[in-house]
Amino acid sequence: MQNPIAWQDSLSVGIETIDNQHKSLFQALSDLQKTAQSRGERQAIQRLFTFLAQYTVEHFRDEEALMRGWNYSRYEAHKAEHDLLVTRLSELWENWMARECEIDDVVDFLAIWLSHHIAINDKHIGIEFREGGSRESPP
Ligand SMILES: [Fe+2]
Repeated sequence: MQNPIAWQDSLSVGIETIDNQHKSLFQALSDLQKTAQSRGERQAIQRLFTFLAQYTVEHFRDEEALMRGWNYSRYEAHKAEHDLLVTRLSELWENWMARECEIDDVVDFLAIWLSHHIAINDKHIGIEFREGGSRESPP
């Protein structure tokens, strides 16, 4: 049995719009986890998985726009990480559709990836913008 997936205050990057989207991502992942654990119907899992993938892409798009708007110093590397995850997500989707992996594997992978990416990469966005006196303030 996996640990329940939940947002933690320690994952705050200090930028409200990003934090709120991260909370929604964790919620979507938690919904997927609960449905998977209760052995929900494949159709329900498919719907939640689709939503999660689409929301992830939207969130990355917003985060990247924010970084570009502020000339964030690590933009290229950060975007490359996002792009890799999107590629990985579509591979996982195809594997799951072909019944080559379990949804639990997808949930585990995403929970670890998200926590790591937010704790290291996304937090750095907040740090740089708090330090950058010449930059516009984050919203
Ligand atoms: Fe990010």
